[in-house]
Amino acid sequence: MIEPPFSQASENNKQVILEILERHLKNGDQVLELAGGTGQHAVHFAANLPYLHWQSSDIPSNVDSLNLRIVAAKLTNLPAAITIDVNHSPWISTKPTAIFSANSLHIMSADSVENFFNGINEVLQADGIAVVYGPFKYAGEFTTESNEDFDHWLKNRDPVSGIRDFEWVSELATKANLTLIEDNAMPANNQLLVWKKSK
Ligand SMILES: C[S@@+](CC[C@H](N)C(=O)[O-])C[C@H]1O[C@@H](n2cnc3c(N)ncnc32)[C@H](O)[C@@H]1O
Repeated sequence: MIEPPFSQASENNKQVILEILERHLKNGDQVLELAGGTGQHAVHFAANLPYLHWQSSDIPSNVDSLNLRIVAAKLTNLPAAITIDVNHSPWISTKPTAIFSANSLHIMSADSVENFFNGINEVLQADGIAVVYGPFKYAGEFTTESNEDFDHWLKNRDPVSGIRDFEWVSELATKANLTLIEDNAMPANNQLLVWKKSK
C-alpha cells in the first residue's frame, strides 16, 4: 500500500484552523478547497464538521496523492478530490458557498495568485466566504526573521514562489468582490484571512 503524503506543518495547524472555520462555516455549506496537498486538512475538517460538504482539489500532478488519504478516510461528506489548477478556468460548474486554501499563495506564481482571486470571483456564491491560511508581509516587512529566511528558501527552490504582500493580496481580493472580515494571527508566524463575497 502506498502511504499518503504527510506534512508536519498541516498536522500542527489543522486544529487551530478548525477552531476558526467552525465560527464561519454553517450547516449545508459547500466548501471548495484549493491546493489540498496531503489531504490532512480535508480529512480533519470534514470529520469534525460533518454538517458540511468538503470538496478538495489540487493540480493534476498532485491529485492522485491527495486522494490516497481522502479515499481511505471514507467520509460521506468528503468526495474524492478533483483536479483544479487555478490558472485554468472555469474551475468547476457548481457554486460553492465557501473556499479554503492553506499555504498555497506563497508557492504558486504571482500570476497564479491573480488567477486564484479571479477564479474565486467567478465561482464563489454571493455572501460566501473565502479563507486563506499562510504567511504574509505587511507594509513590505516580514513579520519575523524566520519568515524572511523561509522566503529566501522558497525563492531558491523556485524563483516564482515567495511570501506575498498582504496589501497586494487585499487589492486582488477587493477586485474579486471580497471584503476582509478577519485577519487572525496564527501560531508559527502565519495568518488566517477571512473574506466575505459581496455579489
Ligand atoms: C505547500 S503545499 C500546501 C498544501 C496544503 N494546502 C497544506 O497546507 O499542507 C502547496 C500546494 O499548492 C498547490 N499548487 C501549486 N500551484 C497550484 C496551482 N496553479 N493551482 C492549484 N494549486 C496549486 C500544490 O500542488 C500544493 O498542493
